[in-house]
Amino acid sequence: MHAQFLRCLLAAFISASLLLSASSPSHAKRAEPRKETAATEDLMREHGILCRILLVYRQSAARLRQNPASVDKDALIAAAALFRDFGEDYHERLEETHVFPVVRKLQGSAADYPLILVDQHQRGRIYTDAILAYAGKDKLTTDDAAALATILENMASMYQNHAAREDTIVFPAWKRALTARRYKEMGDLFERIEVKRFGLDGFEKAAAQIAAIENKLGYSDLAQFTAPVLSCVDP
Ligand SMILES: [Fe+2]
Ligand SMILES: [Fe+2]
Repeated sequence: MHAQFLRCLLAAFISASLLLSASSPSHAKRAEPRKETAATEDLMREHGILCRILLVYRQSAARLRQNPASVDKDALIAAAALFRDFGEDYHERLEETHVFPVVRKLQGSAADYPLILVDQHQRGRIYTDAILAYAGKDKLTTDDAAALATILENMASMYQNHAAREDTIVFPAWKRALTARRYKEMGDLFERIEVKRFGLDGFEKAAAQIAAIENKLGYSDLAQFTAPVLSCVDP
């Protein structure tokens, strides 16, 4: 009788355990392993964030020329602060520490770029300082607005050219120069640096920040930028 009771107790325990494990999260569909971001994909998507900031700069410059009072200076400050934090203090440091030294030693025209690119990084910092200073003023005079518009346009022009050369000349040359193993190691290293600086999902956080800035300025709706229908399609 005692043995039968123990068997019943054991059976009840096993049934309860099975039920519990079936309903526990660990039995739920396992999360997919995190997909790795290759090193150049990482750098290029960071350019995507920076290019969205530059679009904000261009659109703000146009508004400054038309009606300075219509520009949201706080949003402009947030955009410049993001360019500094994510672009200058993070992305450009990766390039200067890990990409440019390799490319500089290569044979061919790609080796000529790092010197100019570093010069542009330094110039960009001065421009970001100026954007923050102008946008931080209580009131922009007409002259201030014109000067800030020019600064924003020059920054956008420089960095759009800069990023386009990096994407199509410098990063491909760097990737070709590395072994497959070294390239993979660089992707892992970039990920570790990003997590150390921003915590998990640093790119996603930056993407959310620029999206919030675009939203504040009324630039969220991508469709508004679709080019108008041409009245004549056969020039
Ligand atoms: Fe750069
Ligand atoms: Fe870059």
